[in-house]
Amino acid sequence: MVTAVFPAAGSSKRMGGGVNKNLLELAGESVLLRTLKTFSKVERINFLIVVVAAHEVETVEGLLRGSKGLKPWQVTIGGSERQYSIANGLKLLPDDAQIVLVHDAARPLVTVQTINDVIDAAEQFGGAIAAIPEKNTIKVIDAQGFVKHTPPRAELVSVLTPQGFRREILLRAYDKAAEENFLGTDDSSLVERLGVRVKVVAGGYQNIKITTPEDIRIAETFLRRSDA
Ligand code: CTP
Ligand code: MG
Repeated sequence: MVTAVFPAAGSSKRMGGGVNKNLLELAGESVLLRTLKTFSKVERINFLIVVVAAHEVETVEGLLRGSKGLKPWQVTIGGSERQYSIANGLKLLPDDAQIVLVHDAARPLVTVQTINDVIDAAEQFGGAIAAIPEKNTIKVIDAQGFVKHTPPRAELVSVLTPQGFRREILLRAYDKAAEENFLGTDDSSLVERLGVRVKVVAGGYQNIKITTPEDIRIAETFLRRSDA
């Protein structure tokens, strides 16, 4: 079976307003609930681990308790970095979780199709990430703000979530990162350090991360067009 971990313990600085962006409503339903409901539609998923800041545990538990259509869930406390929040969530993995997905709670427009594709590829290859072809030209720069070089765009993808891994691979990757004080910006980067080849799966351009206030309006536009 598959367990999904949802980091939602950040401070939403770029959103502003002093509230957890995952609790903001998008066309009448919170970002967090939208995310959890989509994952709950995936048959193979049997448990949801939601990681939030200590002062929000009760609020979020109340929100989830009052919601229909969710797979069994547990709420736990996060840390100062996304990676530490996920590490805390991983302590609650049920014994029957052979595949673990990590998904930003702040990506409520993920589709069932993408989730299933990541699970399938994680089962087959050990690790898989949702990504989209990069639209921009990306430059590598130096500390003085000068261009060092330009990687060919055809080799670049923008990485999204979900990211999925066989349980033992992800746990080993998190242990190694903790031992070596490595802080990555996604889960795959921890797994890559084990030498595991991670498969890239088509992620969908609508699968944005709600980050700044404009993203709320962009997401609502996707929802209105119901192609999310
Ligand atoms: N997250 C987390 N624990 C942290 C930091 C982030 O669980 N210490 C979560 C966020 O709540 C979010 C996801 O990881 O759902 C992606 O992070 P990001 O979009 O950067 O959210 P924030 O860190 O909250 O936003 P900001 O960086 O603007 O403060
Ligand atoms: Mg952040």
